[in-house]
Amino acid sequence: MKKNLLMWDQTLFKDIEVFDIDYVPEQFEYRDEQIQELAYAVRPALAGGRILNTVCRGVPGTGKTTSVKKLFEEISGTTKKIVPIHINCQIDGSEYAIFSRIYTKLTKNCQPPSGTSFKMLFDMIAKYIENEEITPIICLDDANYLVYEKELNKVLYALLRSHETYEHVRFGVIVIISDPDVDLERTLDARVASVFRPQIIHFAPYTASEIAGILSQRVMQGLYPNVLTADLLDRIVDRTMKCGDIRIGLDLIKRSVMNAERDARMNVTDDDVTQAFSISRDLRLAELVRVLSADEANVLFRLAEMTNDADIITTRSVHTSLGKEATGYTRYVQIIEKLDHLRLVTLSYQNTGNGRIRIISLRYDPKRVLALRKNQTGCKANT
Ligand SMILES: Nc1ncnc2c1ncn2[C@@H]1O[C@H](COP(=O)(O)OP(=O)(O)O)[C@@H](O)[C@H]1O
Ligand SMILES: [Mg+2]
Repeated sequence: MKKNLLMWDQTLFKDIEVFDIDYVPEQFEYRDEQIQELAYAVRPALAGGRILNTVCRGVPGTGKTTSVKKLFEEISGTTKKIVPIHINCQIDGSEYAIFSRIYTKLTKNCQPPSGTSFKMLFDMIAKYIENEEITPIICLDDANYLVYEKELNKVLYALLRSHETYEHVRFGVIVIISDPDVDLERTLDARVASVFRPQIIHFAPYTASEIAGILSQRVMQGLYPNVLTADLLDRIVDRTMKCGDIRIGLDLIKRSVMNAERDARMNVTDDDVTQAFSISRDLRLAELVRVLSADEANVLFRLAEMTNDADIITTRSVHTSLGKEATGYTRYVQIIEKLDHLRLVTLSYQNTGNGRIRIISLRYDPKRVLALRKNQTGCKANT
C-alpha cells in the first residue's frame, strides 16, 4: 500500500506566511492605477513642495493597505527626507494613541515619557521634525474607526494645521476609509474641511478573474504542488467572490490546508474547504468584535444570548438584563450606537400604546457571535 501519511515534521505549506492577511506580496497586480495616483500625490514633496492630501476608499480586501505599503517601501528606498508612517486605526483609535505612535515611529522606538500631555507630545514631534528637516507622511489606515470614536476631526486638525504653530512642520496625509457608509463631507468639521480638500482614490472590488489570479499566485508561492486541485481552488474563488473580500479566500486556503495537515493527508478535500469556510466566513465579524472594548463586547454578547426568532428586543431590556455589568445609561447609548455604526446591530424605533420604544437586533447569527466570545480578551481600555 502506498504510504501517504504525513510524517510528523512534514508540512503542505512551502511558506505559510503568504496566507497572512497583512502579508505584503512581491507581485502586486491590478492596482497600478491607484499606486500611480498615490505616487502623484507624494511626488511634489521630492522637490520640496507639498504632498497632496489623499483619501483611499474601498471595501475591505481591495488592496488599499498593500498599495500604500508598496508606495511607502518605494519612498523609504528613495529618500530619507520623506518619512512614511503607517498607523492602524483599529489599534490606535484615539488622537493621543496616534500621536504617540507617530513619535515612536519617528524616533525609531523612543516611547514618550508616561504622563506626557498631548501638547508636550506634539511639541516633541514638531521639534524632531524641524531638527531633522523631514516631511512625515501619515497614513491613517481604516480611519473609519476614528469616525465611530469621533476622533477623526481632532487628528486631522492637529496634522493639517501644525504649520500654524510650527512654521516648518507639515504633514502629508493619506486617509484610508473601508466603510462605504462613512460620508466624509458630513463627518468633517468646516475648520478641517477648509484645509483638507483631498483627492479621492477608489478601490473597486476585485472581479472573479482577478481574485482567481491573486489566489492562484499565492497558492503557487505558499503550497507544495498538488496540495490543492484547480477544481477546489475554483470553489474557493467562488466563495470568496460571494463574500466580496479577498482576505476570506486567503484565510480559507490556509485553514483548508491546515485541516488536511491535521488529518495527515497530502491534499485538501471538499470537506476541508467546507469546514474551513464555517470559520473563515466570519473573518470580518471576528475583526469587528476584536476591536470592541470590554463593556462594548458585553452588550453585544448579552444581546446575542437574548436573541431568538420570536422576540422583539428593546435597547432598555438589554441594559436591564446586564444587571451588575451594566454601564451608566449615557455610556450604554454610546455603545449601542457604535455597534450600529459597525453594523453589528440594527437600531430602530417603534410606536406602542405606551410611547416610543427603541428596538435593537443583531445582524448576525447569535451562535456565530457567541462563538467569538472565547477569543475576546476585552483588554482594550474603555475610553
Ligand atoms: N492585487 C493584489 N495582488 C496580490 N495580493 C493582493 C492584492 N490585493 C490584495 N491582496 C492581498 O489581499 C490581502 C488584503 O489586502 P489589503 O491591502 O490588506 O486590503 P484592504 O486594505 O483594502 O483591506 C493582503 O494579504 C494582500 O496581500
Ligand atoms: Mg486595510
